[in-house]
Amino acid sequence: MALSRVFLCLATLAASANAVELTSLVNLFIGTVSSGNGFPGAAIPHAMAKVGIDVSTAPRQAGYLHDNSSITGISLMHDEGTGGNTNGGYGIFPLFPLTNCSFASCPVGIGARAALRAAGTDAAQPGYFTSTFINKIKLETTSTRRAGLIRFTYPTTGPNHVVIDLTNDLGRSFEGGSISVSLDGRVKLGGTYLQSYGPSNYTVFGCYDFLPPQSVQSQPIVAFGTYQSTNLTSPSSITITANSTSLNFPWVSDNVSPEQAGALISFNSNTVLARFGVSFHNPDQACANAEEEVPDWDWDKVQSASAGAWEDVLSRVTVDTTTEDATVVELLYSSLYRASLVPANLTDENPYWDSPYPFYDAFFCSWDTFRTVHPLLSILDPREWGGIVSAYVDGWRHTGYIPECRANTKPGYVQGGSDGMIPLGDFAVKYGARAAELGVPIDDLYQALVDTAENTPPDWYTVGRQNTAWKTFGYIPTDWVDPSGATGLPTREASRAWEYALGDFAVRQAAIALNKSPGDVVKYSNRSMNFVNMWDPNVTSDGFSGFAQRRYPNGTFAFSPPNACSPVDPVSHSCARGTDNDVGFYESSSWEYSFFAPHSMATLVGLMGGPDTFVTRVDHYFSAGYFLAGNEPGFLVPWAAHYANRPDLTALRVRNVVYTNFNTGFSGIPGNDDSGAMASLLTFHILGLYPVAASKQLLIGSPFLSAYTLRNDFLGTSTTFTVNGFDKTGLSATPPAGARVFVKSITINGTPSASLCHITFDDVVGGGHIEIEVYDDADAAAAAGCGEGPNALPDSLETGGFAA
Ligand SMILES: *[C@@H]1O[C@H](CO)[C@@H](O)[C@H](O)[C@H]1NC(C)=O
Ligand SMILES: *[C@@H]1O[C@H](CO)[C@@H](O)[C@H](O)[C@H]1NC(C)=O
Ligand SMILES: *[C@@H]1O[C@H](CO)[C@@H](O)[C@H](O)[C@H]1NC(C)=O
Ligand SMILES: *[C@@H]1O[C@H](CO)[C@@H](O)[C@H](O)[C@H]1NC(C)=O
Ligand SMILES: *[C@@H]1O[C@H](CO)[C@@H](O)[C@H](O)[C@H]1NC(C)=O
Ligand SMILES: *[C@@H]1O[C@H](CO)[C@@H](O)[C@H](O)[C@H]1NC(C)=O
Ligand SMILES: *[C@@H]1O[C@H](CO)[C@@H](O)[C@H](O)[C@H]1NC(C)=O
Ligand SMILES: *[C@@H]1O[C@H](CO)[C@@H](O)[C@H](O)[C@H]1NC(C)=O
Ligand SMILES: *[C@@H]1O[C@H](CO)[C@@H](O)[C@H](O)[C@H]1NC(C)=O
Repeated sequence: MALSRVFLCLATLAASANAVELTSLVNLFIGTVSSGNGFPGAAIPHAMAKVGIDVSTAPRQAGYLHDNSSITGISLMHDEGTGGNTNGGYGIFPLFPLTNCSFASCPVGIGARAALRAAGTDAAQPGYFTSTFINKIKLETTSTRRAGLIRFTYPTTGPNHVVIDLTNDLGRSFEGGSISVSLDGRVKLGGTYLQSYGPSNYTVFGCYDFLPPQSVQSQPIVAFGTYQSTNLTSPSSITITANSTSLNFPWVSDNVSPEQAGALISFNSNTVLARFGVSFHNPDQACANAEEEVPDWDWDKVQSASAGAWEDVLSRVTVDTTTEDATVVELLYSSLYRASLVPANLTDENPYWDSPYPFYDAFFCSWDTFRTVHPLLSILDPREWGGIVSAYVDGWRHTGYIPECRANTKPGYVQGGSDGMIPLGDFAVKYGARAAELGVPIDDLYQALVDTAENTPPDWYTVGRQNTAWKTFGYIPTDWVDPSGATGLPTREASRAWEYALGDFAVRQAAIALNKSPGDVVKYSNRSMNFVNMWDPNVTSDGFSGFAQRRYPNGTFAFSPPNACSPVDPVSHSCARGTDNDVGFYESSSWEYSFFAPHSMATLVGLMGGPDTFVTRVDHYFSAGYFLAGNEPGFLVPWAAHYANRPDLTALRVRNVVYTNFNTGFSGIPGNDDSGAMASLLTFHILGLYPVAASKQLLIGSPFLSAYTLRNDFLGTSTTFTVNGFDKTGLSATPPAGARVFVKSITINGTPSASLCHITFDDVVGGGHIEIEVYDDADAAAAAGCGEGPNALPDSLETGGFAA
């Protein structure tokens, strides 16, 4: 079927350099292999409903894999890019189309029905997904925030069948639930399943309607019934009961049930259109959501509204799509797309407390997203960000702590610090003065920060920090029994401490921005420097001295090899959260974490022996293979040379990192997309910017585009960056000699910038014109560094940066 999509004549499009539909530039299949876990199905920006097909083989965190594995269904909700349970999260209430079977003997079980796709039939664009099975049944979907449409087109008029599966979420984690079928074609479902990254379960509801208005589609129902396992010792032996209208499996324990159960409906029609709604409240709300959001079953209307919403998101960055490098353009818009799938706006769907504030889910995890996802929202989408930030604050309001890794609506596992603190500090700095307009109660935000920085929950497993230890020692000790009785996973001591320090910096920044007490500013400034307490100057590795290390309560350091848990670790170590992690670092090495103090990089430059040694050490980190491109702790290091006055090295390094780790292929991202973390990082690299956590500063470098415009609707601004002398030959992993990739000067609204290394948020969103002149003279660029003047280097707390 040819796509019929209404072209929306958005005012914003008129402003773009050319009238290309930006949605047509998005490649939804980048990163859709098991190392990336990208979600390519249908969804609107920040949607609750994320509709897509699910493969039978794990790992499949987002349900989909671009391979030849068989498909078990098309289901209604998914995570995006996450790690966690390799079976995946959500994947609830899958439908499966069957043909050429007689009702009572159709292969409805998940193993029996799984089918291969015909090669090359998966296709997607923002708001639409389709695939075709080898038996020629075609499936398509499009969606709204909590509802949508799924269409099956069969090769013959039937009878054709649709399985409505109650029990098989992606995790195969059914703990209880029910399904009912009514004669008006409505199927209601509710089930309890395990969250994908956390200790809890959640309950979710769905509603399918199979009788569209005659004017839309005629699909007479000729048979219906339910099916269930004959007995639980052989769950794949299934009985189909015609005319049965309900099944109920009450929740009795936290044990997962192997039950195969659902409904089967048969139609005399070669097209079957299903409308669905989802809710966390009850099945009737799921139906109401479908009725409200898809009232007239109008496919084209739903799809064009979704495409229009995406066009609006994508058009916040405009480039001349006809003259810029085509690969860069595809990477840019595909990344902007993936960076706006989550967190999910679940407003009105909070099942736990009544609140006038927005409810968002899929903070999965703040550890992943604080570095680049939130800063990108701060530039392009303050209204969405305000909703998200307000939801973080509301989490504190009802639980006492800022959420860290809310997944499937419940607290997930804490990975490091309570890293939701950082976007909250960032928001205070950037929008504190206009917080009310964005719906954020700013004094509550500050109290949320302080409470999370000061209090220790009885169990800091899923929320909060080990502040008892942090405040007693100024570091996180190894082998310490907390006299307060608070418990949590005591591992990752070193990396947690370094993140606690950054969290405290976020409070310090908020205290200044919001005019809180000078005492708070002093206190949190001080505590944010405590990462140095976990620096062992005596450890050496590859000739470099001084590394972050674990430390006992008596002050003695506990040695871990600095290369442990790096990609070239010669010994196998456990680097996850569990008690078998005896390294002290989470998913990263001491080599990498020793570069992680975004708020006082000058301290690290000093500890490592000065700028020259620092630069050599950064180079060695890359050449020796310690850089883990596919995970978040390494995000900043390609830019680290800025702090040693060598932006010329950053220009080359960022190109190398991008062109050796990112591309437009199915495995085009180096690690899990992690709720858009990789996508937003790549966006920043392409724009030649890198955000400094919880501050108004951004590092500035050498863009991959000759010009771009950033639009901020809340501020009513469009800021244009142009690169004078832009040179496409520099768009490679190793730009050839003579390529103009080095920044020679930066002019902001006609005034030369005193720094070639940093720019303020106010200028990035200020609505002016920023001109970056580039040249090919590597030696001159090395000599020029960040420029003349006392403030040319990016800020560091220790050297008086981030002034109050
Ligand atoms: C999928 O592809 C792999 C590699 O080409 C092949 O070994 C396997 O047999 C294929 N599986 C199916 C189900 O076609
Ligand atoms: C229908 O099913 C029968 C029996 O399983 C099989 O022999 C036949 O090839 C199938 N026809 C189609 C078109 O798939
Ligand atoms: C699982 O769900 C049931 C029913 O809602 C609830 O009583 C139970 O506490 C949940 N268990 C966990 C571990 O969340
Ligand atoms: C349940 O399935 C097992 C394994 O197939 C079988 O041995 C047993 O007889 C079945 N029980 C009943 C009650 O059918
Ligand atoms: C189901 O109901 C239909 C319509 O009343 C009837 O024709 C059919 O025989 C019933 N099937 C079974 C298996 O009871
Ligand atoms: C989130 O969803 C609610 C309910 O539809 C809506 O009112 C609100 O505007 C959404 N938030 C944002 C930032 O779009
Ligand atoms: C923080 O405060 C403590 C106690 O007053 C002091 O010993 C320490 O030097 C301070 N640290 C910094 C970095 O100012
Ligand atoms: C480093 O080694 C020296 C010499 O052995 C020792 O005096 C010093 O205490 C050590 N420093 C630390 C922090 O362990
Ligand atoms: C500190 O504690 C560790 C671990 O118990 C121990 O190995 C070390 O010898 C102690 N250091 C001192 C100076 O007592």
